[in-house]
Amino acid sequence: MKVFERAEIGSIELNNRIIRSSTFEGMADNNGFPTEEYFTLYEKLSKNNIGGIITGCTYISKDGKMVQPGQAGIDDDEKTASFKKVTAIVHKNNSKIFMQISHAGRQTISDLIKTECIYGFSDKKSFYFNQKPIVLSNSQIRDLIEKFGDAAKRAQSADFDGIQLHAAHGYLIHQSILSSVNSRADEFGIDKKTKIGTKFLDLIIENIRNKCGPDYPILVKISGSDDYIRKFSELQFIELIRFLNSKQISAIEISYGTMDYALNIFRGKSIPYDFILKHNIKYKTNKSLIKNIYNYLLFAMLKLKTIPFALGYNINFSILAKKYTSIPVISVGGFLNGNDISDAIENHKADFVSLSRALIAEPAFVSRLINKADDKSICASCNRCAIMCDSNLSTRCFALKR
Ligand SMILES: Cc1cc2nc3c(=O)[nH]c(=O)nc-3n(C[C@H](O)[C@H](O)[C@H](O)COP(=O)(O)O)c2cc1C
Repeated sequence: MKVFERAEIGSIELNNRIIRSSTFEGMADNNGFPTEEYFTLYEKLSKNNIGGIITGCTYISKDGKMVQPGQAGIDDDEKTASFKKVTAIVHKNNSKIFMQISHAGRQTISDLIKTECIYGFSDKKSFYFNQKPIVLSNSQIRDLIEKFGDAAKRAQSADFDGIQLHAAHGYLIHQSILSSVNSRADEFGIDKKTKIGTKFLDLIIENIRNKCGPDYPILVKISGSDDYIRKFSELQFIELIRFLNSKQISAIEISYGTMDYALNIFRGKSIPYDFILKHNIKYKTNKSLIKNIYNYLLFAMLKLKTIPFALGYNINFSILAKKYTSIPVISVGGFLNGNDISDAIENHKADFVSLSRALIAEPAFVSRLINKADDKSICASCNRCAIMCDSNLSTRCFALKR
């Protein structure tokens, strides 16, 4: 079966076409160094026949940290040696690993990440994070481009097989692309013709190529659309694919949405309100009745915006993207059984599929599929794992029943 055949991403050969999508670990110390728990996680994943592994998002500079505790960073040279341990484990187990690098931009909160302010591509604040960002100056953007390049160089020195730029889910690179967020009038603003902003991403890719060499694999994760009133349109999506095609990056992974409506990134069969009220940074409550009522009303409004779960729910973006590019396309979102994975690959809807929650629930899911190609994941899509990223506990399956 094509799913389980070897396949290439750039110069890197993967054992099969199933990838572990970037999944926040919450397993780094306060300074962003990976801990023993982080090493153990990647030991477990790499022993289980996953074609390629993408790390959780790793910050390129301290002001780009996310609010979730325990995020790993690749913001200084001292960290390279620790990450070398991770790649040594993965390579010993004959697997491949890519580091996802990111800057949170406006999707963070200065009090929680202990910075003076947060930065954005414009002063528009995120509905969810609700803090007005300081608009990045032209020279601060250029400085961040260098920092992305430096982070990629460190990942390369730590023997990662490539990097993935997080240009999805509303983080800084995504903010620069979206016309609903980026209102700049300078060279980093929205292109009049394509209606998207690609200059930041373009210069980051060039900077990485200068620092890491032209062949070092660069993957880019994007969102096919979003939930803003001025939605990212199909035409804008096609322009973004055309741009990535012109850059000849190594692979495009297509997800959905922003953290303003995070549940639409994950989708779920139910929304775990109990966990949200207990652990979410914004909605957690000391159980005062009024606050609970307020929260339930707010949830009711949020629910109206919530898109129902469907198996392989982002596959249509991947099918569309493949009309405009020959670069490998990875579809992520709702892959929970072998039949849907095979359908996506065998019928050329995507070149690879990637999984997050199914591998949180069961790191050995791919090994199981190799033995029985039509098996199903034990993941119940309850999304407790996603909600718990806000807690001090590291990422694992928190399902009460399956
Ligand atoms: C607990 C958790 C952590 C995640 N962390 C990241 C992340 O660090 N970077 C990222 O791009 N996506 C992250 N995601 C999103 C996943 O990569 C994926 O796009 C999404 O969960 C849909 O895939 P799935 O249906 O296989 O879970 C995370 C998802 C979950 C559930």
